[in-house]
Amino acid sequence: MSCFNYIDGELHAEAVPVRRIAEQYGTPCYIYSRRALETALGDYQSALAGCDHLICYAVKANSSLAVLDTLARCGAGFDIVSVGELERVIAAGGDPARVVFSGVGKRADEMARALEAGIACFNLESAAELEVLARVAEQCGRRAPVSVRVNPDVDAKTHPYISTGLKENKFGVSVDEALRVYQRAAELEWIEVIGIDCHIGSQLTQVSPFIDALRRLLALVDQLAGLGITLHHLDLGGGLGVRYADETPPAVADYIAAVRAELGERPLKLVFEPGRSIAANAGILLTRVEYLKQTPEHNFALVDAAMNDLLRPSLYQVWMDIRNASEDEAGERASWDIVGPVCETGDFLGKQRELSVATGDLLAVFGAGAYGFAMSSNYNTRPRAAEVMVDGNQLHLAREREQLADLLRGEHRLPGQD
Ligand code: LLP
Repeated sequence: MSCFNYIDGELHAEAVPVRRIAEQYGTPCYIYSRRALETALGDYQSALAGCDHLICYAVKANSSLAVLDTLARCGAGFDIVSVGELERVIAAGGDPARVVFSGVGKRADEMARALEAGIACFNLESAAELEVLARVAEQCGRRAPVSVRVNPDVDAKTHPYISTGLKENKFGVSVDEALRVYQRAAELEWIEVIGIDCHIGSQLTQVSPFIDALRRLLALVDQLAGLGITLHHLDLGGGLGVRYADETPPAVADYIAAVRAELGERPLKLVFEPGRSIAANAGILLTRVEYLKQTPEHNFALVDAAMNDLLRPSLYQVWMDIRNASEDEAGERASWDIVGPVCETGDFLGKQRELSVATGDLLAVFGAGAYGFAMSSNYNTRPRAAEVMVDGNQLHLAREREQLADLLRGEHRLPGQD
């Protein structure tokens, strides 16, 4: 079920025509559907019914307060990778006691703030990080709950930039090293060992790599139990893929059922850190065609969104669906490259798309709810887009379009010149 549908030839976000949103808030503009977010989270919740669990939405995928607020109200926990993300969760009404802290380079000040806020778990990435956390916990007078991120060395079969569970990646520690880290952690007064975690990559379209990783983690859980170290939760990270083009990722229910079957009778709480599978299809990027430029080789449609607004096509050369916001059955189709105004050849949203476009048309990039706005920048001194949340027939401005003054704030010319 999608919450972005064509009704009488006009693209709607839930019950609102996107054309109306463009008129009210301008373009480029990210549009999110509250119902789509709730449904995606609900899929995880129903698949995990009857089993002790915590769903920690990966904030990095889309950290808009309105998105976090929507999910927090439905009982989600959160996976954070910085103190900034922690402050966002708190500002959005999220419960720090349902937060896990991932991230390869946590600073001592970030650890202290997370301890003070009372987060659920620190997902440790190295033996050195354990020592720093133990010192910080002692200084704060609070025991730190920890899990060790195991790098299970499995091939997630995804894009190399978003594959994280191979031994050549910088993430986590090997199974052998994890054993040593757990033994050391168990000796430390200010550390409380509670779980184990992994995250093998993103946009996975098969269940088998998750199950391979899970088996390696479970073998370690059993081994640790034999050494008197009892773990209470197992966190399989995020990574479940979505459909951008013709991928056929497993349904959440099938993925979770396979995990539950593998777990057997072990009394472990299950934790997941989904980002993309919650947010990607809950958002679109709306952009307007500014110019058409036709050369003997190419048809370029220059739009007002660019790589600074949506980096995924440029950075990973991934295909994201682009459609006209008004379906014009009669219009003649041609092959268009959809490109932005940024001064880079790599600035494109899509290439060779069969579309019927005219200057002034609105185009929608689908699947832009995850790693869209969150990865946007001010490159070329471009203010970042507005973000709008749709709820039925209601519109909510989640984030105002940036103004140029916002971009210059905090900058200073050199002294001594008028
Ligand atoms: N947990 C950890 C520790 C992670 O590193 C990530 C994503 C997640 C959870 C959430 O994974 P998801 O469910 O969203 O796959 N910018 C890239 C994706 C980078 C993912 C980084 N880590 C993209 O646009 O495809």
